Amino acid sequence: MSAEPAPSPDVPAIEVVGLHKSFGDLEVLKGVDLTVAPGQVVCVIGPSGSGKSTLLRCVNRLEEPTSGSVRIEGIDILDPEIDLDRVRARIGMVFQQFNLFPHLSVLRNLTIAQRRVLGRGRAEAVEVARHNLERVGLTDKVDAYPAHLSGGQQQRVAIARALSMNPDLMLFDEPTSALDPELVGDVLDVMRDLAHSGMTMMVVTHEMGFAREVGDEMIFMDGGVVVESGRPREVLSDPRHARTRAFLSKVL
Ligand SMILES: Nc1ncnc2c1ncn2[C@@H]1O[C@H](COP(=O)(O)OP(=O)(O)OP(=O)(O)O)[C@@H](O)[C@H]1O
Ligand SMILES: [Mg+2]
Repeated sequence: MSAEPAPSPDVPAIEVVGLHKSFGDLEVLKGVDLTVAPGQVVCVIGPSGSGKSTLLRCVNRLEEPTSGSVRIEGIDILDPEIDLDRVRARIGMVFQQFNLFPHLSVLRNLTIAQRRVLGRGRAEAVEVARHNLERVGLTDKVDAYPAHLSGGQQQRVAIARALSMNPDLMLFDEPTSALDPELVGDVLDVMRDLAHSGMTMMVVTHEMGFAREVGDEMIFMDGGVVVESGRPREVLSDPRHARTRAFLSKVL
């Protein structure tokens, strides 16, 4: 990868084919296929242990797939020749635990990777950071330390940090499930705005209201495979598979 052409609308943002992942004898992903088009929001649901996090982690190669292929904007990220850092820089990742640096201010949390990974100068990094703090409604917290923020604010900082790398797509792994209920809404509002701004998003979540309203597609995973997928409204109200029905009857 040398120059960075604008992503073509015809090339999937994410294309996963025949993805398998084992940890020792434990086969966690048993042949996952999925495609996310540019600008699409895909929500992933499924029981604990079904492989949702492993799937997301394989998409930016935080986990090494056992077999299969993962293409990001047409680039085979399992190709040993590619510059993985360059590919990863296009993918923002937000985890359940916010993973902010506790010893750095909010501003420094947002500028450090911009400076080290993207080589931006201080003034530019600060400008980008401030812009993204504004997007998540936290301009007043630039000098605060993570420990002095609520969980919801920390998660919004984590989103602003990911956005400060100007990713083409964002992966979210249960971004609100560690939050007190009254803090969930602000984080979902930020994610909704992001979706409406055209960001490509893959979101593991059990916030079914969000998925129904914002998601273009819903994927139900169980036992390391995609059991069914479709419009969130349809999957939620009229699941085709017994396993989906059984899962939804427990969570809805
Ligand atoms: N690094 C690892 N080493 C060994 N086993 C792992 C590892 N990571 C995940 N697993 C196992 O893989 C399976 C799938 O885990 P994964 O975290 O992908 O599930 P999940 O669908 O995200 O579940 P949850 O809803 O609880 O987050 C589980 O059995 C888990 O114990
Ligand atoms: Mg998980």
